[in-house]
Amino acid sequence: MRKITVIGTGYVGLVSGACFSEIGNRVICCDVDQRKIDMLNRNEIPIYEPGLQEMVERNKEQGRLLFTTEVGEAIEASDIVYIAVGTPMSETGEADMRYVMSAARMIGEHLNGHKIIVNKSTVPVGTGELVREVVQANKKYPWIGFDIVSNPEFLREGSALSDCMNMDRAIIGSDNPDAANQIAELHAPFKTSIFKTDLESAEMIKYAANTFLATKISFINAIANICERVGADVGDVAEGMGMDSRIGGKFLQAGIGYGGSCFPKDTYALAHIADKAGYEFELLKSVIRTNHRQRFVVMDKLREALGGLAGKRIAVLGLAFKPDTDDMREAPSLSIVPELIKLGAEVSAYDPIAAEAARKLLPEEVQYADSAERATIGCDACVILTEWKDIVGMDLSTVKAGMKQPVMIDGRNCFQPSEMERNGFVYYSVGRRAVNRTEGVTRKSVNL
Ligand SMILES: NC(=O)c1ccc[n+]([C@@H]2O[C@H](COP(=O)([O-])OP(=O)(O)OC[C@H]3O[C@@H](n4cnc5c(N)ncnc54)[C@H](O)[C@@H]3O)[C@@H](O)[C@H]2O)c1
Repeated sequence: MRKITVIGTGYVGLVSGACFSEIGNRVICCDVDQRKIDMLNRNEIPIYEPGLQEMVERNKEQGRLLFTTEVGEAIEASDIVYIAVGTPMSETGEADMRYVMSAARMIGEHLNGHKIIVNKSTVPVGTGELVREVVQANKKYPWIGFDIVSNPEFLREGSALSDCMNMDRAIIGSDNPDAANQIAELHAPFKTSIFKTDLESAEMIKYAANTFLATKISFINAIANICERVGADVGDVAEGMGMDSRIGGKFLQAGIGYGGSCFPKDTYALAHIADKAGYEFELLKSVIRTNHRQRFVVMDKLREALGGLAGKRIAVLGLAFKPDTDDMREAPSLSIVPELIKLGAEVSAYDPIAAEAARKLLPEEVQYADSAERATIGCDACVILTEWKDIVGMDLSTVKAGMKQPVMIDGRNCFQPSEMERNGFVYYSVGRRAVNRTEGVTRKSVNL
């Protein structure tokens, strides 16, 4: 059993802390956000993540998992201190490092014995060394030593628990083999592959991995846009490509592009890191531009199907950036819904989990429904932005019967064009043929 403190109780810190306690360690999760900690102490989970409630309750009951706002005391009580605070995008696109630096200062001030300081946040290359300097500068007792390790996180929201309990690899970067070995041992119960490297390479691996996945998404979206123009089906193209084991089928789903708390900020951050290092990362800049434009593909299709949007009632199905999370960070809905309102449309929105979070971020004119079917009643078109199970499984005949016009713009390719044709929808998806489209509409009118 190890004594671990996790600083930052967001998606990463809370999940990692719960999983470290699940494998038998004593974990203190701390956060400066009193509301979050109060909720956790009442057994309420501040984020939506399947299975997390049960794991947190179980480990709290067994006395292995504690929550506190007393960050200093938590640091003093542990031998391993994980930093899992946010690194949001700053106005210039760089990673905002103020939370990591404040955590490092706190660690320095409360360094009461040798500790391994492990960074789990996604941070620019060189941060490990910066953290070392800040801890060193804030130490009260000069004779106490510490080690710095980088152990970036790869979990995906929505499947975070299983990603953590069955992680496919742990990247461990350090200049001290002993510290690296201790963090590797900590991961032994996860039965995962361990890859040890230096600090800088570990920090770079995280950005390179996310950027590569973002590149795959923008690539297939670009192919989708060409497919529409030449009459090919991007679903088949992706499947055929993915059968090549050198390519693989994952992250080749065409749609309205990536969002969320990681890909947008991490792609921008790596572009900045490259710029600073004197390398013009043109490929990455193009990935970012392609993704930005892709969001508005649904707007082009809406205009094509309905003409002007003023006075039209549009159902927006799915608001979170992806299914199985309440995370609204960089969700496509945040760009598309305000644009619809600006163009004079009425918006009736539905999301099974993220509606409450969305309400705080979307224009107040938006109306919210309690089911996908009800959101579409009386609508001129419905737009799918997130492929939640109950949206993919909605009753199409009820939807069609309740809509003013059966127009569906499917930004996530949830349905098959042939199925929608049979069901009598005017159906547009991404990179596949549109069905039952109204007369006079030509492919060329989709202006990307
Ligand atoms: N969310 C993901 O899916 C994901 C996946 C992999 C990596 N990451 C990376 O992990 C890091 C954390 O992401 P997240 O989504 O969990 O962030 P988050 O915003 O959900 O949570 C961060 C938490 O840190 C707390 N915090 C900030 N400063 C603090 C301090 N000085 N002391 C104590 N607590 C403090 C905040 O109050 C907040 O609760 C980021 O660098 C992110 O890029 C996130």
